[in-house]
Amino acid sequence: MALTVRQHDHPPGQPKGAADGVHTDGPGCEPVIMSRIEASRSEDTTATGDLVDLLLGGLPAEAVLTDPDVTASYANDMASFCAAGIPAVVVLPRTAEQVQHVMRTATALRVPVVPQGARTGLSGAANASDGCIVLSLTKMDRILEINPVDRIAVVEPGVVNAALSRAVGAHGLSYPPDPSSWEMCTIGGNIGTASGGLCCVKYGVTAEYVLGLDVVLADGRLMSTGRRTAKGVAGYDLTRLFVGSEGSLGIVVRAVLGLRPKPPEQLVLAAEFASAAAACDAVCRIMEGGHVPSLLELMDRTTVKAVNTMAQMGLPESTEALLLAAFDTTAPAADLAAVGALCEAAGAIQVVPADDVAESELLLQARRLSLTALEAVKGVTMIDDVCVPRSRLGDMLEGVDRIAAKYRLTIGVVAHAGDGNTHPTVCFDPADPDESRRARESFDEIMALGLELGGTITGEHGVGVLKKEWLAREIGPVGMEMQRAVKQAFDPLNILNPGKLF
Ligand code: LAC
Ligand code: ZN
Repeated sequence: MALTVRQHDHPPGQPKGAADGVHTDGPGCEPVIMSRIEASRSEDTTATGDLVDLLLGGLPAEAVLTDPDVTASYANDMASFCAAGIPAVVVLPRTAEQVQHVMRTATALRVPVVPQGARTGLSGAANASDGCIVLSLTKMDRILEINPVDRIAVVEPGVVNAALSRAVGAHGLSYPPDPSSWEMCTIGGNIGTASGGLCCVKYGVTAEYVLGLDVVLADGRLMSTGRRTAKGVAGYDLTRLFVGSEGSLGIVVRAVLGLRPKPPEQLVLAAEFASAAAACDAVCRIMEGGHVPSLLELMDRTTVKAVNTMAQMGLPESTEALLLAAFDTTAPAADLAAVGALCEAAGAIQVVPADDVAESELLLQARRLSLTALEAVKGVTMIDDVCVPRSRLGDMLEGVDRIAAKYRLTIGVVAHAGDGNTHPTVCFDPADPDESRRARESFDEIMALGLELGGTITGEHGVGVLKKEWLAREIGPVGMEMQRAVKQAFDPLNILNPGKLF
């Protein structure tokens, strides 16, 4: 659906030309816009003043933040080693129309726009660039519809993942993608990064649940993609194109999400291994055996120790690798027994099924805490996100060990083992320049290893700033050319999250 350009009344006290320059996008307005641009380029502060004035033409004052201390707090997501600029302004729209106004303003003044959700991302994709408009979608947080017959939810982008899960749960439904940050991260951010999570091994990733989108394009037009039906193959799949586009193609303002019937609570089994290789062997046996666990996660000894230190969880520290397997079937005990036997066949030292759901939840909490706990080891972490074919998981972990020794670093490994998706997490002291350099080099070497093993540089965190030098290595020159052509089609002025991905 293409929206016609909306004419706003210019606010009192604001020059009429300014507001008109943004809200009229016919050819006749071009000189007005150009003169504004020329004028605004003359001096930085004037430029910011003009930008803010124009934004206030379609946004309430409380939705436009300019205090430098406040705007600086929107500069970063949670990635290390990613440069961030200083935003000119932060806007917090509440409606699609307000987002359209922001994009028309940005297009008129050629100002970059950095869309943000909860900034829990781990690749710098939500980092501000100098002089940008930070477009925070956190105030657009309404669940618009939950439809148990169609098994869909319609939501705004700022809805928090866990809030959606709880809301659909009340209808006997589930929204499966569950990143570890689910209590904070937003659905818009999940769509932007194509997030995964713990239960993807059974239920798949965000892309499989996004059926349709309303997207504000770079020039302010509103486009609807996809469907709210169970099937639909009309035209290119632009919906999927937007999933994982890291805010570089448009601003998602509404999403139609697929839901599933809520499964029974899962029961978790913990298996201890004397080596990561044995744990990886168990993963292969479980998958080869046709089992469908709702979660199959691995934590290495460094991670287990870090979690115990942080939260006194009492996890077994003598283990080299702890495997957590879960089933949310109607007879989980039988499934756990079968998987437990496979773990023992692979050499597990001990296999302990949780007694009940509460104990299972504790084990999952320990897993979800892992990366925060690893961060506490030395102050800062770099979290790799390499995904390899699960048959190569053992090679991957062995290689990470080698790399940790070579660079004399502590690298804890947490993995969505059932997906082959590893998070080798480099722990380092940012005040030590030599250690910081080694951390960065080891991080890159881990990605190289992932590619060698037939994997990808990122399974679920995205490219952002952190891995952009690596994208071309993974997809090659022809792939890059086509990626750039797509970007050019959607964002010819390169104002949407420039400097990310490529
Ligand atoms: C996790 C996030 C970091 O797996 O992807 O905990
Ligand atoms: Zn993860």
